[in-house]
Amino acid sequence: MIRITINGKVTQASEGETLLKVIRREGIDIPALCHHEAVEPYGACRLCMVEITKEEWNGWSKYVTSCLYPVEPGLIVKTHSTKVIEMRKTIVDLYLARHPNCAEIQQLADEYGVTKTSYQTVVDGDNCILCGICTRICDEMGFHAISMVGRGHGKVVAPPLDEAPANCTGCLACAQNCPTHFIEFEDKGNSRTIWGKKFEMITCEKCGKTTITKEFADYLAEHRELPREYFNICDECHRRSTALDMGRIASWSKEVK
Ligand code: SF4
Ligand code: SF4
Ligand code: FES
Repeated sequence: MIRITINGKVTQASEGETLLKVIRREGIDIPALCHHEAVEPYGACRLCMVEITKEEWNGWSKYVTSCLYPVEPGLIVKTHSTKVIEMRKTIVDLYLARHPNCAEIQQLADEYGVTKTSYQTVVDGDNCILCGICTRICDEMGFHAISMVGRGHGKVVAPPLDEAPANCTGCLACAQNCPTHFIEFEDKGNSRTIWGKKFEMITCEKCGKTTITKEFADYLAEHRELPREYFNICDECHRRSTALDMGRIASWSKEVK
């Protein structure tokens, strides 16, 4: 175990843990827009920046992105020092200029008292904050269907050649985990459209509800070693039938006693 001090309180951490993980475990709220538990840290937003020092550093301190920085014995961390708040304000200010209509950015701006951006506003700024969570999740699942393309202000998330991505299974993991709800998709009848690709959804054989795409069911059947037919029934109906079976077993065991 490693002992570190966060905002004056001594706490313990395990080797290899990141500062952000420990900070959050301590119930301290710091913004971390590009962080997602399911994927490797990326260090893009810089909002999770904290100030660190050690007793032997003789008053010298530095600023690190806590989502990337591994804990070290004797670290003294300040999550809301004057300088840290100042740095976060500058980042929020920049985000506000680039994404003036993004609710999540406006919320951060309110929190940090940035009432108006001091930079030139991008009039047609969209709500993609380029956190890379969508592309990393898609990669993590092994699909590699979308990626960051372009540079600077022209940087966007897109499928290869901006065409319907062949590898996309329509799983929705990208859209459901996008912190700004930027990724659009449409579920209509038994079809789903995302990234310009149309999918047929499975209809539950028991209740008639649409569940997941056929492509995603194929993927799950292969990777979770479940029979493909398992996905012809929705989770709810699977649970209901398990509960019924358990009930039958319970009453049968009473009868035979
Ligand atoms: S689309 Fe969403 S998840 Fe993907 S980079 Fe943009 S904001 Fe992040
Ligand atoms: S919906 Fe497509 S692009 Fe999005 S995570 Fe799933 S496979 Fe990737
Ligand atoms: S959460 Fe650490 S840089 Fe974005």
